Amino acid sequence: MIKKLIVQVICTLICFIALLVSCKPDSPDYPLNTENPANPLTPYSIYHPARFPEMKIPDDNKPYKERIELGRMLYYDPILSNDGRACANCHLQSYGFTVPGMVNGMPVLSHVNMAWYNNFMWNGSKKGGLEDVMQFETREFFATDLNKMNNSTTYKELFKKCYNVDYITHKEIGYALAQFTRTMISDGSKYDRYIKGIEDMSYDEKKGAELFFSEKGDCFHCHVTLLTTDNSFHNNGLDSIYTSDKDKGLFMVTGDAKDLGKFRTPNLRNVALRNSYMHDGRFKTLEEVVEFYNSKVRKSATLDPVMTKPGKENGLQLNAYEQKQLIAFLKTLTDSAFITNPNFSKP
Ligand code: HEC
Ligand code: HEC
Repeated sequence: MIKKLIVQVICTLICFIALLVSCKPDSPDYPLNTENPANPLTPYSIYHPARFPEMKIPDDNKPYKERIELGRMLYYDPILSNDGRACANCHLQSYGFTVPGMVNGMPVLSHVNMAWYNNFMWNGSKKGGLEDVMQFETREFFATDLNKMNNSTTYKELFKKCYNVDYITHKEIGYALAQFTRTMISDGSKYDRYIKGIEDMSYDEKKGAELFFSEKGDCFHCHVTLLTTDNSFHNNGLDSIYTSDKDKGLFMVTGDAKDLGKFRTPNLRNVALRNSYMHDGRFKTLEEVVEFYNSKVRKSATLDPVMTKPGKENGLQLNAYEQKQLIAFLKTLTDSAFITNPNFSKP
């Protein structure tokens, strides 16, 4: 009797496992079968700027030329959405892969040097690597219609070649987008070229850089290194009372009171090409941003201690000329080679 029961339980378990395995399409957890000796791919070595931190690439999404090209094609193809939009509609190369103005009440985040991020979105609602955030984009943000993808003979062939799959799921789409966006690297701004010793900066630009990277301006505590972001969360003093949930930042993700008003430090590359700053686009010019850091920082329990260091209780108190120099420096972070790089344009 007991033996029969055990056999029954084992059978049920086997059936259950078989069912799980048969659910494979669209489960995010199965390993991609990348080995297809019949269809060798071309290995691709991603350019690594000398002074940047190490880049982590997941083992199950090694860079290949064909995959990067596929990701690029998808990035520009409205097939991913159900309303005619492509990623590139909001993430435009000429603006550093963002777009002027606001979308859904917030500025569109740029796509630049994202290979080094492990937190995504203004309030950090997405964690992980590019593979994770890109799967979110196709699965949830665009809710890409997989029938449409699988009815496309072009994509069927390309995904078969690149990922050796017979049925395209959000996972492979996300992985291909991750391949392309990982190559979107900017290290050719005037400031980069100055650091590399191949171009000089003006006196004011240099003074602005000094302010940015010294205790006087203190920007570098959060906008760290050449990446200009620590990819972490801070309350930089925009609000002391919260009238809207979206101003609560990371708190909306964690529910922890110590995260109130904290946002991920944004990347400042190509910042001069934007026209709406902060998570709600409240500032329209860099002058307004610098004026904010200079004298309008609001105090609250979660305000970053850097903002009120001794002598800075009432903001940085830079004079008008120093403010201009700081802005002159921010403008040297514009990378015209990046925004015109043919490798990132519409294929
Ligand atoms: C309708 C405009 C729009 C479209 C189309 C769009 N995005 Fe975005 N994207 C945004 C906005 C707005 C944000 C900021 C959202 C937030 O912080 O909550 C964003 C943020 C992101 C981020 C986070 C960047 C960071 O620095 O954390 C990624 C990654 C991203 N988008 C990828 C994509 C991809 C891939 C596509 C196409 C599949 C796409 N987006 C299509 C508007 C758009
Ligand atoms: C304590 C950390 C911290 C310090 C110090 C800091 N920032 Fe920020 N910065 C942030 C955070 C966080 C945001 C995003 C806030 C939000 O999303 O609303 C931000 C946003 C910005 C933006 C807007 C970027 C965009 O894309 O909207 C600019 C420009 C900027 N900071 C420049 C500076 C300058 C210049 C300094 C030095 C005077 C400085 N920051 C000092 C954390 C900091």
